[in-house]
Amino acid sequence: MTSRTGRAAVAACTVALAVSLSACGSAEQAEGDGEASANAPSGKGDDIRVGLLLPENQTARYERFDRPLIERHVKELTDNRGEVVYANAKQDATLQSQQIDTMITNKVDVLILDAVDARAVAGSVREAKEAGIPVVAFDRLAEGPVDAYTSFDNEQIGRVQAQALLEALGDDADKGQIVMMNGSFTDPNAAQFKRGAHQVLDGKVTVGKEYDTTEWKAEHANKNMEGAISALGKDEIVGVYSANDSMAGGVITALKAGGFSTLPPVTGQDAELSGVQRIVAGEQFMSVYKPYGPEAEAAAAMAVALARGEPLDTIAEDTVDSAGTPDIPAVLIPVVPLTRDNIQETVIADGVYTVAQICTERYRAACEELGLR
Ligand code: GAL
Repeated sequence: MTSRTGRAAVAACTVALAVSLSACGSAEQAEGDGEASANAPSGKGDDIRVGLLLPENQTARYERFDRPLIERHVKELTDNRGEVVYANAKQDATLQSQQIDTMITNKVDVLILDAVDARAVAGSVREAKEAGIPVVAFDRLAEGPVDAYTSFDNEQIGRVQAQALLEALGDDADKGQIVMMNGSFTDPNAAQFKRGAHQVLDGKVTVGKEYDTTEWKAEHANKNMEGAISALGKDEIVGVYSANDSMAGGVITALKAGGFSTLPPVTGQDAELSGVQRIVAGEQFMSVYKPYGPEAEAAAAMAVALARGEPLDTIAEDTVDSAGTPDIPAVLIPVVPLTRDNIQETVIADGVYTVAQICTERYRAACEELGLR
């Protein structure tokens, strides 16, 4: 991955974050009108139809943030005339390729694609290109001839998680082993999180068991964790690297059922509401807060520019390579580690959650302790 510098784009995007998030709850349902628009991407004005393909609906980010934010930015960039045609693949790669086919048939002007299976989707990306429809890879780098990419710095996420875990472990790092619960092998981000985490953990702590978790599912993480507890023994496990919050939920349930009186530190990602609540309660050590606003804004800006046939150089300052496709213009957004110490300055200050949403009855006392009121 080549990294010139994405700072200018990131800064510009961050300014818009607060504005963007305030629209999260009020986004309208966008739909296609079935009318064919021009096939060639160049020369479009504001009547742009963007096909948005998201991978699943279990992790809250997709429906709660990514979709409404992208819809809002497309409207803003097109004087309210552009529209988003939306499809969620519910973790099914075959369904996603059918959804892409439908969008190609309906002649959308550009695709924003978050792949369920980055490799399997390459053929569909090629078909879109052949039909004159440019593709922005969103969050996960789809293989095939994509035109642009936006994501967070995914290796950095793995390093941030691992660094936090090492800090939480302190002297306990030498007293036992950790378990690593990585994400799905069909998701290229999962490999990057894992790579980043290993860069920090290797040589500092022993990894007793490591799993790639099918479909990122909490229930699979729960089963894997049960297996790790019986294989290693509960007294041997000093910490758990979990690549995201929903899996952390499954891991923590297994730890509780496995008889841990004090829970070892467990990491996460996505600042899901349930993850933030577990952090408040002291059950989960950390999450990774990914400001979804700048990522959505970059995706919308690149999609609209591509549909109009405009260059991306003022938006994308980085480039990345994927299998067979070098120098893809990219916007990579930095992330923030989220612990008990910075809930106020991150998810609350940015309007992602209100104190009332986090501090329900069950978490009220812990919230008081943290000064969240
Ligand atoms: C990753 C994404 C994470 C999380 C995960 C589970 O690709 O970057 O934010 O959503 O998938 O779907």
